[in-house]
Amino acid sequence: MAVSAAVLCGVGGCVPDSVVTNADLARRYDTSDEWIRSRTGIRQRHVVRAGEATSDIAVRAGAAALRSAGIHAVDAVVLATSTPDHPCPASAPTVARKLGLHEAAAFDLNAVCAGFVYALAAATGLIATGMARTALVIGADAFSTILDPADRATAAVFGDGAGAVVLRAGGAGEPGAVLACDLGSDGDLAELIAVRAGGSRHPLVMGAPVSGGHFFAMHGKAVYRHAVRRMSASARAVLGRVGWRPPDVDCFVGHQANQRILAAVGAEVGIAPERVFTNIERVGNTAAASIPLALTDAAAAGALRPGRRVLLTAFGGGAAWGSAALTWPEL
Ligand code: UT7
Repeated sequence: MAVSAAVLCGVGGCVPDSVVTNADLARRYDTSDEWIRSRTGIRQRHVVRAGEATSDIAVRAGAAALRSAGIHAVDAVVLATSTPDHPCPASAPTVARKLGLHEAAAFDLNAVCAGFVYALAAATGLIATGMARTALVIGADAFSTILDPADRATAAVFGDGAGAVVLRAGGAGEPGAVLACDLGSDGDLAELIAVRAGGSRHPLVMGAPVSGGHFFAMHGKAVYRHAVRRMSASARAVLGRVGWRPPDVDCFVGHQANQRILAAVGAEVGIAPERVFTNIERVGNTAAASIPLALTDAAAAGALRPGRRVLLTAFGGGAAWGSAALTWPEL
């Protein structure tokens, strides 16, 4: 059989054990459960404990996805993250080693909250060109480690987590085939979501105090507007590429940035509210982990059955956005 597609054949996720509820945040900040739930849909989020890093949760999600796929080896590991264990080197080789995936190609990819869709597209390309026959695609982030302790808005939104899928070479007609991707970016919006210091533009200086620039900062309102516009346009673009109409989508699994963003994108694209999957209430916005974690939960909830048409869409820092259309496999 000629290889023409990457086929999803495993999925798994992991959230750290420690839970932070809205009531916990209301003890630390001038905020309330009512404000957070009505503005975001979030009731709680999970956070890593001291000493626990992104690769630790990435390994747990990767192991779950490999178990789900029933395989022990892959040719490539693509880790989408903007909170790697260290600025250098990439975390993917560590994740690959801990999973026993010796000598697999392994690299990190940073497209912030759009990272998983970008990583899925990159791995699909590796498979479609014959450079890999199998790939583990992980989205993992521990935003709790970079948040500004003084910022109640980002504290309310972000949580830590990891999710992963396994791809294998196959045919476009098989359930699980990734049928199309759409990717885009707008660097004019780079200032909207950023950790400004600590990179080559504003390097660390010996003896200088840690400043606010070392923490994650987001212009929430502007991001919200761009997210709705770009996610909707990208979703339509990928639907056009596969020839699906909005009512053909059985399950829309978008980046869980904000319940209101997901509802607005669903309404804008024309997807019925009951087909818009959300797990944001329980996990918050887990950045690159968001979509694969939601896929894991949607599969467990019975929202994803073999052959169902699935639409993925994300927007994040960069700004970068992307979508993918796939059918769901028998797992
Ligand atoms: O994942 C990558 C992409 N990220 C996103 O898509 C996130 C998009 N943005 C959002 O989800 C929303 O902008 C937030 C949830 C972050 C904020 O909600 P908002 O409705 O846009 O609030 P805002 O930033 O415009 O702030 C409105 C008010 C402000 O008070 P004033 O200036 O009107 O007095 C904020 O200080 O709400 C205040 N506020 C809060 N109040 C209570 C901000 N955060 C909080 C809070 N509790 N946690």
